[in-house]
Amino acid sequence: LDDDPSTQIAGELIELTLQAAKLAASVDLRELSSRLSAPPYYPEIWPGEHYKFLCALAQLLNPRCVIEIGTGRGLSALAMLQGLGAESLLYTFDTVEWENMKDGVLRESDFADGRLKFSTDDLSDPLLMSVYHSLLSQAELIFIDGPKNRVTETQILKNLETIPFIKPPLVVFDDIRLPNMVALWRSIRYPKFDATSLGHWSGTGLVRLKRAT
Ligand SMILES: C[S@@+](CC[C@H](N)C(=O)[O-])C[C@H]1O[C@@H](n2cnc3c(N)ncnc32)[C@H](O)[C@@H]1O
Repeated sequence: LDDDPSTQIAGELIELTLQAAKLAASVDLRELSSRLSAPPYYPEIWPGEHYKFLCALAQLLNPRCVIEIGTGRGLSALAMLQGLGAESLLYTFDTVEWENMKDGVLRESDFADGRLKFSTDDLSDPLLMSVYHSLLSQAELIFIDGPKNRVTETQILKNLETIPFIKPPLVVFDDIRLPNMVALWRSIRYPKFDATSLGHWSGTGLVRLKRAT
């Protein structure tokens, strides 16, 4: 985009996208799909759906700490978890308890080894975000797939900007091509890359959360 300098400093993110896409081609999410009672088996669909791509990103980055905002049915959490190592932690947040999620695929046993944690705390609330400062500062991958209501994601990004990250994390925004998300995506002034063609049809945006130079 000739009017958006952030897209012109995304070399690292382009390279990461290419590597993740190569890896995604061989990611096997059949076990995850088997948790769905009927088609469409979204985890199997790639590109178009993002689950294999998310799993590949987790595998490539091998982060010790992943934050997800918007657990939903649990598909993206489990897809990323599959790509993570034994020492990693994936902390997923949703304002609805996972047990009460319609068509949810999470099970109690998914939390057994301590790699997956869940909270209903709303990180768009600056006060609640501050409770997690220490955890969030360790995050290397943050996946944001919330309500897309023009307010929440913008506030979450604002709150994240207060976190003293140990390493600049990769933030993946889902649905950046949806009308409610376009203004936020366009406003981001960090290095960013629109990886929609290799991710989710509704938009997959990669952002390196550090000050653009
Ligand atoms: C599209 S779904 C997430 C889908 C999930 N990431 C997946 O791919 O399987 C969006 C979720 O965001 C949740 N949500 C809404 N507001 C939220 C907030 N402030 N913080 C965290 N989650 C929120 C909704 O309850 C809903 O479950």
